[in-house]
Amino acid sequence: MLYVGGKWVEEGEVAVHPEDRGYNFGDGIYEVVRIYKGKMYQWDAHLTRLFRSAREIKMELPWSAEELSSLAHQLMEKNNITENDDATLYLQVSRGVSPRVHDIPAAGSIEPVIMAFVRTKARPVADMKKGQTAQLVEDIRWLRCDIKTLNLLGAVLVKQYAKDAGAQDSILHRNGIVTECSSANLFAVKNGALYTHPADHLILHGITRQVVIDLARENGIAVNEEAFTTDFLKEADEVFLTSTTAEIMPLISVDGQPVGKGTVGPVSLKLQDLFEQHIN
Ligand code: PDD
Repeated sequence: MLYVGGKWVEEGEVAVHPEDRGYNFGDGIYEVVRIYKGKMYQWDAHLTRLFRSAREIKMELPWSAEELSSLAHQLMEKNNITENDDATLYLQVSRGVSPRVHDIPAAGSIEPVIMAFVRTKARPVADMKKGQTAQLVEDIRWLRCDIKTLNLLGAVLVKQYAKDAGAQDSILHRNGIVTECSSANLFAVKNGALYTHPADHLILHGITRQVVIDLARENGIAVNEEAFTTDFLKEADEVFLTSTTAEIMPLISVDGQPVGKGTVGPVSLKLQDLFEQHIN
C-alpha cells in the first residue's frame, strides 16, 4: 500500500493530476530512508533535511514531524515490514496542484501532495566487498545541489553518461573540482586521511556522509572537508562514495585507471567495519 495525497491506495490506483507541479516542473522535494531490520535508520536527520529542503524552496509543510513519523510507521506496518526486513522508504512532497504557470501560487491557494512507499531492499554487500567503477563527468547540475529536489534530470543524465562510458557510476566535477556523485557523496583517501567536498550549495548534505565523518573522527581518522581536484582524485590511495542505499561503496577504478592498487583499500574496509557495528 502507498500513501498518496492523504489516502492509502494500492499501486495500480495511484493517479497523478495533470497539473501537479511535481509532475510538471519537478517542483517538490523527497527523501530516501534506510530501514535496517525493520527499523528506520537516521529518521530524525531525514526529517530535518526534508523540512530544510521545504524551507529552501519556499514551501510550507502542513504536517508535523510527529505526523510524518506516524505515517512512516504505518507504511511499514501496512506493508508487513518486520525485523527480518531491510528496506527503503521513499517519501516525496510535490508543491501541489494548480494551473501551470511557473511562479509559486500564493500561500493558502495550494496544498502540498505527499506520496510515500516502502520496498524491501537488500544491502549491497557483494558490491561493497568488490568495489565499483566510476567515470569522471562534468557536473552539469544547477547551483542548489544542497536541496533534495524532485528535479533530477541533471543527475539522471550524468549517471547515464558514466554508464554509456562503461562505468557503474559518475564522479562529478565542476571545472576540475570534484563535487560528488550522481546520487551519492564522494570521499578520497590520501595518506590515511579523508577528503570530501565541503557541505555547501554544490553537494547534497548527505546523511551517510555525516555518519562517516563522525565515525572517522571518533576513531582517529582525520577528515578534511575541503574541495580537491580531479588530479588529486587520480592520485588518491582510495576512493569511495556514500549514500543511504550504497552505504560505503569503494570505487576501485576511475576513467578505466585503477585507484591505488585497484582493490578495496584498508581505510575503506575499516570504515565499512565501523559502519557495520554502528547500524547493528
Ligand atoms: N541519493 N548526493 C546526492 C546527489 C544524492 O542524491 C544522495 C542520496 C546523496 C547521499 O545522501 P544520503 O547519504 O543522505 O543518502 C548525495 C538518494 C539515496 C537517492 O536519490 O536515491
